[in-house]
Amino acid sequence: MERPYRVRRSCLAVPASSERFITKARGLPADEVFLDLEDAVAPAAKPQARANAAAAVAGDWGGRTVAVRVNDASTQWAHKDVIEVVSAAARVDVIVLPKVTSPGHVVWLDLLLGQAEQAAGLPLGQTGIEAQIEDARGLAAVNAIAAASPRLEALVFGPADFMASVGIRSLDVGGQPEGYAGGDVYHYALMRILIAARAQGLQAIDGPYLKVRDTGGFRRSAASAAALGYDGKWVLHPDQIDAANEVFAPSQADFERASRIIDAYAHATTVDQRGAVMLGDEMIDEASRKMAQAIVARGRAAGLPATA
Ligand code: GLV
Ligand code: MG
Repeated sequence: MERPYRVRRSCLAVPASSERFITKARGLPADEVFLDLEDAVAPAAKPQARANAAAAVAGDWGGRTVAVRVNDASTQWAHKDVIEVVSAAARVDVIVLPKVTSPGHVVWLDLLLGQAEQAAGLPLGQTGIEAQIEDARGLAAVNAIAAASPRLEALVFGPADFMASVGIRSLDVGGQPEGYAGGDVYHYALMRILIAARAQGLQAIDGPYLKVRDTGGFRRSAASAAALGYDGKWVLHPDQIDAANEVFAPSQADFERASRIIDAYAHATTVDQRGAVMLGDEMIDEASRKMAQAIVARGRAAGLPATA
């Protein structure tokens, strides 16, 4: 089954233990909403959160992508999480699998989803997977993880667990630790995840920025991931949504320039039979077309108008 393209500039985390937050999330402009059964939910609250998530996914989410973050594959909760939410709804777009440390975790989820879909009479393969890479083992195995299932749609960096795993000396998740002189402390992990994702045609999503009142810090962190090539970022608070949607969409000027590159290149290769051509004072070729194509696809997904 071919995977649909889903826009993921902003992926909103909603603790499934809170019916109030779930109700509120329905009206927020996040591209993706994921109902969290994992770290935002205390162990004693997990069964109720699972029931809330199963009831909520069946409701109306408009055009948003609806996801559920289940507990990780080594826990006592994971299999029930998957079975209950998939059986309850005609539509849960994606399961977010946290703390993925080996391709086996993804293979397990792929098989279980197949069983749950068949039992519920749903199209086989309809549920996608996002895999969170959030510790040293996961990062070391990221290439194999990215290739583990045709259901995979995105790899997601988990900075909080990652910081704990490798010993980054800070509690400021998503921010830069004091004393680090090397630039961006997350760069290596972000780049490895991005390359592994792109090698398999997947999206790459950056994780949370915990200081939700620090909108400047969030915007800097998001802009850095977007500049690197990331498709979107988690948001933990309604105040972070607009910034993420803006930062991960191309500017109108870039969108229009990219459209012009595609038109000029199509004219050059078909009508003029040339592989490289001048557009204004810039030489464009096949590589320029590919870059332009990616910007146009993101701009369209973000709903940018064809001309300003
Ligand atoms: C998200 O799950 C994180 O650990 O940052
Ligand atoms: Mg985590």
